Amino acid sequence: MIKTKYPSQSEIIMNEIVMPGDTNFHGTIFGGKVMSWIDIAGAMCAMKHCENAVVTVHVDDIDFISSINIGELVTVKASMNYVGKTSMVVGVKVEKENPLTGEKQKTTKAYLTFVSVNKNGEPQAVHRLEPQTDDEKRRYANAQERTKSKKELRSRLK
Ligand SMILES: CC(C)(COP(=O)(O)OP(=O)(O)OC[C@H]1O[C@@H](n2cnc3c(N)ncnc32)[C@H](O)[C@@H]1OP(=O)(O)O)[C@@H](O)C(=O)NCCC(=O)NCCS
Repeated sequence: MIKTKYPSQSEIIMNEIVMPGDTNFHGTIFGGKVMSWIDIAGAMCAMKHCENAVVTVHVDDIDFISSINIGELVTVKASMNYVGKTSMVVGVKVEKENPLTGEKQKTTKAYLTFVSVNKNGEPQAVHRLEPQTDDEKRRYANAQERTKSKKELRSRLK
Protein backbone atom coordinates (compact mmCIF):
# COMPACT_ATOMS: atom_id res chain seq x y z
CA MET A 1 0.00 0.00 0.00
CA ILE A 2 1.32 3.44 -0.97
CA LYS A 3 1.57 5.81 1.99
CA THR A 4 3.00 9.27 2.65
CA LYS A 5 6.38 9.47 4.39
CA TYR A 6 8.59 12.30 5.67
CA PRO A 7 12.29 12.75 4.74
CA SER A 8 13.20 12.34 8.43
CA GLN A 9 11.93 8.73 8.31
CA SER A 10 14.66 7.63 5.89
CA GLU A 11 17.64 9.83 6.84
CA ILE A 12 20.98 7.99 7.04
CA ILE A 13 24.11 9.04 8.89
CA MET A 14 27.07 6.73 8.22
CA ASN A 15 30.43 7.12 9.98
CA GLU A 16 33.76 5.96 8.57
CA ILE A 17 37.50 6.50 9.17
CA VAL A 18 40.08 6.80 6.40
CA MET A 19 42.38 3.77 6.60
CA PRO A 20 45.70 3.36 4.69
CA GLY A 21 44.02 1.05 2.13
CA ASP A 22 41.49 3.80 1.25
CA THR A 23 44.09 6.30 0.02
CA ASN A 24 45.69 7.22 -3.31
CA PHE A 25 49.38 7.94 -3.90
CA HIS A 26 48.95 11.52 -2.55
CA GLY A 27 48.07 10.03 0.88
CA THR A 28 44.51 11.38 0.66
CA ILE A 29 41.33 9.40 0.12
CA PHE A 30 40.73 7.69 -3.22
CA GLY A 31 37.71 9.33 -4.93
CA GLY A 32 36.21 5.94 -5.79
CA LYS A 33 36.07 5.08 -2.08
CA VAL A 34 34.06 8.23 -1.37
CA MET A 35 31.74 7.43 -4.31
CA SER A 36 31.22 3.92 -2.92
CA TRP A 37 30.26 5.32 0.54
CA ILE A 38 27.92 7.82 -1.17
CA ASP A 39 26.22 5.04 -3.15
CA ILE A 40 25.85 2.83 -0.04
CA ALA A 41 24.41 5.62 2.17
CA GLY A 42 22.11 6.73 -0.67
CA ALA A 43 20.86 3.17 -1.27
CA MET A 44 20.15 2.68 2.46
CA CYS A 45 18.12 5.91 2.50
CA ALA A 46 16.16 4.85 -0.63
CA MET A 47 15.49 1.36 0.80
CA LYS A 48 14.20 2.87 4.04
CA HIS A 49 11.85 5.17 2.13
CA CYS A 50 10.35 2.57 -0.23
CA GLU A 51 10.74 -0.43 2.12
CA ASN A 52 11.94 -2.47 -0.84
CA ALA A 53 15.07 -3.37 -2.85
CA VAL A 54 16.55 -0.58 -4.98
CA VAL A 55 19.05 -0.13 -7.83
CA THR A 56 21.13 2.97 -8.62
CA VAL A 57 20.01 4.39 -11.96
CA HIS A 58 21.73 7.80 -12.05
CA VAL A 59 24.44 9.77 -10.27
CA ASP A 60 24.18 13.50 -10.73
CA ASP A 61 26.28 16.51 -9.99
CA ILE A 62 29.02 15.00 -7.79
CA ASP A 63 31.37 17.68 -6.46
CA PHE A 64 34.66 16.97 -4.66
CA ILE A 65 35.11 20.15 -2.63
CA SER A 66 38.09 19.22 -0.46
CA SER A 67 40.29 16.15 0.08
CA ILE A 68 40.24 13.88 3.15
CA ASN A 69 43.42 12.76 4.89
CA ILE A 70 44.32 9.37 6.30
CA GLY A 71 43.04 9.01 9.90
CA GLU A 72 40.28 11.61 9.50
CA LEU A 73 36.69 10.80 10.48
CA VAL A 74 34.07 10.88 7.74
CA THR A 75 30.32 11.38 8.06
CA VAL A 76 28.11 10.56 5.08
CA LYS A 77 24.58 12.00 5.38
CA ALA A 78 21.86 10.88 2.96
CA SER A 79 18.36 12.29 2.80
CA MET A 80 15.36 11.72 0.54
CA ASN A 81 14.90 14.84 -1.58
CA TYR A 82 12.21 13.93 -4.11
CA VAL A 83 10.26 10.95 -5.45
CA GLY A 84 8.63 10.19 -8.80
CA LYS A 85 6.43 7.16 -9.47
CA THR A 86 9.14 4.49 -9.06
CA SER A 87 12.27 6.62 -8.70
CA MET A 88 13.75 8.45 -5.69
CA VAL A 89 16.29 11.28 -5.64
CA VAL A 90 18.63 11.18 -2.64
CA GLY A 91 20.97 14.03 -1.69
CA VAL A 92 24.24 12.97 -0.06
CA LYS A 93 26.66 15.24 1.81
CA VAL A 94 30.08 14.12 3.05
CA GLU A 95 31.88 15.88 5.90
CA LYS A 96 35.35 15.25 7.35
CA GLU A 97 36.46 15.78 10.94
CA ASN A 98 39.97 16.03 12.31
CA PRO A 99 39.71 13.84 15.46
CA LEU A 100 42.51 15.77 17.19
CA THR A 101 41.05 19.27 16.76
CA GLY A 102 37.35 18.53 16.14
CA GLU A 103 37.50 20.78 13.05
CA LYS A 104 34.84 19.82 10.48
CA GLN A 105 34.58 20.59 6.77
CA LYS A 106 32.23 19.63 3.93
CA THR A 107 34.14 17.57 1.34
CA THR A 108 31.70 16.15 -1.19
CA LYS A 109 28.09 16.36 -2.30
CA ALA A 110 26.08 14.39 -4.84
CA TYR A 111 22.56 13.57 -5.96
CA LEU A 112 21.66 9.98 -6.82
CA THR A 113 18.53 8.47 -8.33
CA PHE A 114 17.42 5.01 -7.22
CA VAL A 115 14.56 2.89 -8.57
CA SER A 116 12.55 0.51 -6.40
CA VAL A 117 12.51 -2.94 -8.02
CA ASN A 118 10.82 -6.29 -7.46
CA LYS A 119 12.69 -9.60 -7.55
CA ASN A 120 12.55 -9.59 -11.37
CA GLY A 121 14.22 -6.16 -11.47
CA GLU A 122 11.00 -4.42 -12.56
CA PRO A 123 10.25 -0.87 -11.29
CA GLN A 124 7.74 -0.64 -8.42
CA ALA A 125 5.72 2.34 -7.19
CA VAL A 126 7.24 4.11 -4.17
CA HIS A 127 5.68 5.89 -1.18
CA ARG A 128 4.87 9.60 -1.56
CA LEU A 129 7.24 12.12 0.07
CA GLU A 130 6.02 15.05 2.13
CA PRO A 131 8.79 17.57 2.91
CA GLN A 132 8.18 19.33 6.23
CA THR A 133 10.99 21.75 7.08
CA ASP A 134 12.05 24.75 4.95
CA ASP A 135 15.28 22.90 4.02
CA GLU A 136 13.35 19.79 2.97
CA LYS A 137 10.95 21.91 0.87
CA ARG A 138 13.90 23.66 -0.83
CA ARG A 139 15.62 20.32 -1.56
CA TYR A 140 12.33 18.90 -2.94
CA ALA A 141 11.82 21.88 -5.30
CA ASN A 142 15.47 21.79 -6.47
CA ALA A 143 15.41 18.02 -7.11
CA GLN A 144 12.11 18.31 -9.00
CA GLU A 145 13.64 21.03 -11.22
CA ARG A 146 16.84 18.98 -11.80
CA THR A 147 14.85 15.83 -12.66
CA LYS A 148 12.68 17.76 -15.13
CA SER A 149 15.60 19.48 -16.88
CA LYS A 150 17.64 16.22 -17.03
CA LYS A 151 14.67 14.46 -18.70
CA GLU A 152 14.36 17.27 -21.27
CA LEU A 153 18.12 17.23 -21.92
CA ARG A 154 18.16 13.42 -22.33
CA SER A 155 15.33 13.46 -24.87
CA ARG A 156 16.91 16.40 -26.78
CA LEU A 157 20.37 14.72 -26.99
CA LYS A 158 19.07 11.27 -28.05
C1 LIG B 1 16.43 0.98 -13.12
C2 LIG B 1 15.76 0.15 -14.21
C3 LIG B 1 15.04 -1.03 -13.57
C4 LIG B 1 14.73 1.07 -14.85
O1 LIG B 1 14.15 0.37 -15.90
P1 LIG B 1 13.43 1.15 -17.09
O2 LIG B 1 12.95 0.15 -18.06
O3 LIG B 1 14.29 2.28 -17.55
O4 LIG B 1 12.15 1.72 -16.36
P2 LIG B 1 11.41 3.07 -16.62
O5 LIG B 1 11.71 3.67 -17.95
O6 LIG B 1 9.97 2.78 -16.26
O7 LIG B 1 12.03 4.03 -15.53
C5 LIG B 1 11.77 3.82 -14.14
C6 LIG B 1 12.03 5.10 -13.43
O8 LIG B 1 13.43 5.38 -13.48
C7 LIG B 1 13.64 6.67 -14.00
N1 LIG B 1 14.88 6.63 -14.77
C8 LIG B 1 15.23 5.74 -15.71
N2 LIG B 1 16.45 6.04 -16.19
C9 LIG B 1 16.87 7.14 -15.52
C10 LIG B 1 18.06 7.92 -15.53
N3 LIG B 1 19.07 7.66 -16.35
N4 LIG B 1 18.13 8.98 -14.70
C11 LIG B 1 17.14 9.29 -13.85
N5 LIG B 1 15.99 8.57 -13.78
C12 LIG B 1 15.87 7.51 -14.61
C13 LIG B 1 12.44 6.96 -14.88
O9 LIG B 1 12.25 8.37 -15.06
C14 LIG B 1 11.35 6.33 -14.03
O10 LIG B 1 11.00 7.20 -12.98
P3 LIG B 1 9.50 7.37 -12.44
O11 LIG B 1 8.86 6.01 -12.41
O12 LIG B 1 9.66 7.93 -11.06
O13 LIG B 1 8.80 8.31 -13.37
C15 LIG B 1 16.77 -0.34 -15.27
O14 LIG B 1 17.24 0.80 -16.00
C16 LIG B 1 17.96 -1.07 -14.66
O15 LIG B 1 17.84 -2.19 -14.20
N6 LIG B 1 19.15 -0.42 -14.66
C17 LIG B 1 20.37 -1.02 -14.11
C18 LIG B 1 20.48 -0.71 -12.62
C19 LIG B 1 21.79 -1.20 -12.06
O16 LIG B 1 22.24 -2.28 -12.37
N7 LIG B 1 22.43 -0.36 -11.23
C20 LIG B 1 23.75 -0.61 -10.72
C21 LIG B 1 23.82 -1.54 -9.56
S1 LIG B 1 22.67 -1.22 -8.26
